[in-house]
Amino acid sequence: MAREKWNSKLGFILAASGSAVGLGNLWKFPYETYSNGGSAFIFVYLLATILVGLPIMMAEIFIGKSTNKNPIGAFKTLHPSAWHIIGWLGIASGFVILSYYSVVGGWTLRYFLQTLTGAYLSMNQEQVASDFGSFVQDGMAQILFHTVFMFMIVGIVILGVRKGIELAGKILMPMLFIILLILVVMAIQTSGFYQSILYLFYPDFSKITTNSIIESMGQSFFSLSLGMGAIITYGSYMQKNEPIIKDAITIVFFDTMVAIMACLMIFPILFTFELKPNASIGILFSTLPLLFLKMPGGIVIGPLFFLLVIFAALTSGVSLLEVVVSYFIDEKGWNRKKATIVIGMAIWILGFPSALSNGGWSWLSGMKWIGERNFFDSLDYLASSWMLPIGGIFIAIFTGWIVSKEIRNESFAKDHDGFYNVIVFLLKYVSPLLVFLVLLNVTGIL
Ligand code: PFF
Repeated sequence: MAREKWNSKLGFILAASGSAVGLGNLWKFPYETYSNGGSAFIFVYLLATILVGLPIMMAEIFIGKSTNKNPIGAFKTLHPSAWHIIGWLGIASGFVILSYYSVVGGWTLRYFLQTLTGAYLSMNQEQVASDFGSFVQDGMAQILFHTVFMFMIVGIVILGVRKGIELAGKILMPMLFIILLILVVMAIQTSGFYQSILYLFYPDFSKITTNSIIESMGQSFFSLSLGMGAIITYGSYMQKNEPIIKDAITIVFFDTMVAIMACLMIFPILFTFELKPNASIGILFSTLPLLFLKMPGGIVIGPLFFLLVIFAALTSGVSLLEVVVSYFIDEKGWNRKKATIVIGMAIWILGFPSALSNGGWSWLSGMKWIGERNFFDSLDYLASSWMLPIGGIFIAIFTGWIVSKEIRNESFAKDHDGFYNVIVFLLKYVSPLLVFLVLLNVTGIL
């Protein structure tokens, strides 16, 4: 059977943006910004995105598009040697990330139902916050919502590239953006808005710490879906002669905008209500219901917002599953249905300990895996701080040093010589070196 392709270029951009824009932007970015001192984190994050994220985004699109293969097959095709190990690392990352990502995806489902039934209308701010705490400790609910979320992802991936993934991106991404805009406008009207602008954008370089540098780099990879072949896989469904520079810039720009807009929506509420979220991972869930309480039409906007967080999480989750599924279809000859169901089930099972480790099962939640982290946090740490950056370093080295001639022959490079030279320079020297320094730091060597 012929390998599938996107219907249109816009279809690719929306699907890739759908992969990039997800819980990383709406849930993780705000809480990492909060725990790393605001503007300092945003500044380092933007720097990491320009110097490392953008070049690697182009590299991944190039690898996929020029080979029309899954991550492992793509490396094998471009350079038959040990490089395809990076593809393996990517597939392992997809597996690991989706297992806990789906747990948080499940949280968004539950918040949708809660806002839909008006459950928060009778609560005060302490109650809204403590509701999050008791929810994550409810093991049955955690497993239930994780299961439903995995079901939805499997349902989309099974439909295939055009009818499933592309269609989901085309419908869901524009809606997401419009609702986000409405919410930011609402947040602008709260009394905490001015203070949050200072907090988020007034440069305070003294607050830059090694931790903020490490986390911003990992976050940039995570948020842009880089370092594990998701973008290689999506690039592999492109038509041959499409240029990629503009596409890459559009996706990176869109993803960064959404992350910043998420902060513009959440921090004004924190400052207005003088909240000090003790569970920083719950920032999205313990602040937004408060905004909906206060605003006219909140009863409608609330569920609508969580519906859109669900959409964002779904389109990202779909890309995580697609990386693994594409390998089994391309290399093992499985049909899409079999690959999606078997892999989906395996990831669903791996999600159990994550679902139960935030308090659902006291034995498990008391256990520390990496440092002081529980199972859920350990997987996130392993994937974001290690697997994606390591994948990213090698993807940069591979494209910058081994196949840069092939890139030069691509149509996109010919008309943009200057830009091309800058990107190859970044891929050759700057991105690998920066990521390497960060990794040395994570290991404590630096
Ligand atoms: N970029 C997604 C987010 O920000 O939520 C998460 C993600 C999707 C990471 C796909 C990696 C990936 F390959």
